Amino acid sequence: MSSASYSLHGPVAVITLDNPPVNGLGLALRQAIVAGVDAAASDPAVQAVVLIGNERFFSGGADVREFGTPKAMQEPTLLTVIRTIERSPKPVIAAVSGVCMGGGLELALGCHFRIAHTEATVALPEVKLGLLPGAGGTQRLPRVVGLETALNMIVSGAQVPVTQLKDTALFDEVVTSELLPAALALAHKVVSEGRGLPRVRDRQVNEPNAEAFLQFARNTVGAMSKQFPAPLKCLEAVAASVSKPFDEGQKVEREGFLALMQTPESRALRHVFAAERAASKISDVPADTPTRAIAKVGVIGAGTMGGGIAMNFLNAGIPVVMLETQAAALERGVGTIRKNYENSLKKGKLTQDKLDARMALLQPTLDYADLADVDLVIEAVFEEMGVKQQVFEKLDSVCKPGAILASNTSTLDLNQIAAFTKRPQDVVGLHFFSPANVMRLLEVVRGEATAKDVLATVMAMAKKIKKTAVVSGVCDGFIGNRMVEQYARQGGFLLDEGCTPEQVDKAIEKFGFAMGPFRMGDLAGNDIGWAIRKRRAVEYPDMKYSKTADLLCEKGRYGQKTGAGWYDYVPGKRDAIPNAEVVQMIADHRASLGITPRKVSDEEIVQRLVFSLVNEAAHILEEGIANKASDIDVVYIFGYGFPVHRGGPLKYADEVGLFNVAQAMKRFAQNPLDDATFWQPAPLLARLAAEGKTFN
Ligand SMILES: NC(=O)c1ccc[n+]([C@@H]2O[C@H](COP(=O)([O-])OP(=O)(O)OC[C@H]3O[C@@H](n4cnc5c(N)ncnc54)[C@H](O)[C@@H]3O)[C@@H](O)[C@H]2O)c1
Repeated sequence: MSSASYSLHGPVAVITLDNPPVNGLGLALRQAIVAGVDAAASDPAVQAVVLIGNERFFSGGADVREFGTPKAMQEPTLLTVIRTIERSPKPVIAAVSGVCMGGGLELALGCHFRIAHTEATVALPEVKLGLLPGAGGTQRLPRVVGLETALNMIVSGAQVPVTQLKDTALFDEVVTSELLPAALALAHKVVSEGRGLPRVRDRQVNEPNAEAFLQFARNTVGAMSKQFPAPLKCLEAVAASVSKPFDEGQKVEREGFLALMQTPESRALRHVFAAERAASKISDVPADTPTRAIAKVGVIGAGTMGGGIAMNFLNAGIPVVMLETQAAALERGVGTIRKNYENSLKKGKLTQDKLDARMALLQPTLDYADLADVDLVIEAVFEEMGVKQQVFEKLDSVCKPGAILASNTSTLDLNQIAAFTKRPQDVVGLHFFSPANVMRLLEVVRGEATAKDVLATVMAMAKKIKKTAVVSGVCDGFIGNRMVEQYARQGGFLLDEGCTPEQVDKAIEKFGFAMGPFRMGDLAGNDIGWAIRKRRAVEYPDMKYSKTADLLCEKGRYGQKTGAGWYDYVPGKRDAIPNAEVVQMIADHRASLGITPRKVSDEEIVQRLVFSLVNEAAHILEEGIANKASDIDVVYIFGYGFPVHRGGPLKYADEVGLFNVAQAMKRFAQNPLDDATFWQPAPLLARLAAEGKTFN
């Protein structure tokens, strides 16, 4: 099946790229372009060639479906396609509308002329995958848009509207009219005016102070991208476009590209890119599963979570009915939403019109009857089974048939909640993270009875409200919080053994985490963990954990909200200031247990924290709570600040080698102050390690 069509419009051959969904430059499309250019060359009736995509995509670049397969490298590669175009005896014109990204832009830059629709956007986003544009982009782009603009685009990967580049030599014409007729007219013009076969590679980069600028850029980019090698490699490739002839510059680009391909950072970024896309696919829910329409949403509870959840839908233009039991709580909730929008307005991120439009979509109510016509209702009331029961029985009686009934519970059994209704198939968990209007992650909790079309619907809805959704089975804490509990437990043991909160946080932050366990505890509220531990003490009286966090809570040090937790906080600021009293409290506790403090290395801190996540994740995977290893990585990257350049806990474990991970766990199990039972490698991990395999 061809991925492009070839047609004649008088003396102009038109090659229309047709490889849904994004005109990715897969093998078949590359072959078709070469075949089209060859056919045009050998047809005496043809005088020029137009290369065009569709309204939404000229081309999104490499075909991600070919990543890691032999097809990606099979001839004709994109470099060969571009060489074929440059050598064409007849002018080739790229006609760009919609998105023109990565290899798509490199393809356009290889053409003799370029015309764009005014609404098109261009980008070289390879840096986001830890790579650099490998088909001449670093050499050709500076030759047409100038050094500074090209460098900014290549180092940031940002998408740029063509209107911003209309004064550069990137496009010969930018038009508002229909693209194909305009491209045909340009083709006629270049032929009749004898404009020849100009090649971008033959141009020079015009920049009088190139060296000084590049030195400045090296300092800035180096400082901004410490954990990532790609931006500096991009910079060196772009620098070569100034200092070297084209072919030599392209060699620098090629070498940089191949070197970056081998870096763990790029492997991690490519893994996360693929993992995020894979997360929306559920193995037993086919892609063509019908979905239910979500035109109106209900939110129960206008507290911390309810307000944030409502904002997601208001932002997406979906009306929300928000219900509370008390007028005062309702008013407070609505007020908080308004205040959040007003803050965005002050920062220039929102216009007054948009603010008004969003608030107009919000219908506050105290009356369940107002929920009769909602398509989805999300409960975010107190975390008590009795309260959930009242709410779900009520929802069952007022909501229309087919409405999806969702709970935002963090810890309660969703199957039990579903059983409060006569329609458990319509009940699902939608576990948002705080602040719910900001955090990207959404855990979709699949109950025993949850219907497939309900899952398909909420996964599609997640995309609409710009969330990254991952499916979790029912268990205490679901995927993310179940893992973080082990991580926090290790944090506690480390204090008992001799660390300060600051030492632990600094070590894991140096590894790349956004925040260490103690700063995270202060942000989330230490009282939340306290409540969970109290419950655990009843369920598992033998469970071993450090008592330091309880002692901290007994002092009322709940975290940022009380101005004091593991650290001190100055009102209005989030800086964590170490507190001598807390350090003394930990030392006293240690002494009361008869423990002599020891110096724990940063390496041990990082390994114990990260491998505790890995071991729990392996159990979660084996139990089928998570569908695939990459889903767990997505949860940790998007919900818990795990460093993206490490690819998530399981990708990181794969990189370290599972044999080494299992060995480290066995070593930790020898530590009498730690939990030896926990550190037995999970059966799945042990098996993979023994077989020399990986999670991902
Ligand atoms: N806070 C978090 O970080 C977080 C994160 C994820 C999930 N959750 C879950 O979200 C839910 C809500 O948590 P929160 O932090 O927003 O709590 P919250 O105390 O801030 O808000 C709960 C709101 O529900 C209202 N409410 C209580 N009973 C009600 C009823 N019967 N009908 C209508 N409204 C009622 C209360 O008036 C209050 O405004 C809980 O299940 C919690 O576990 C919380």
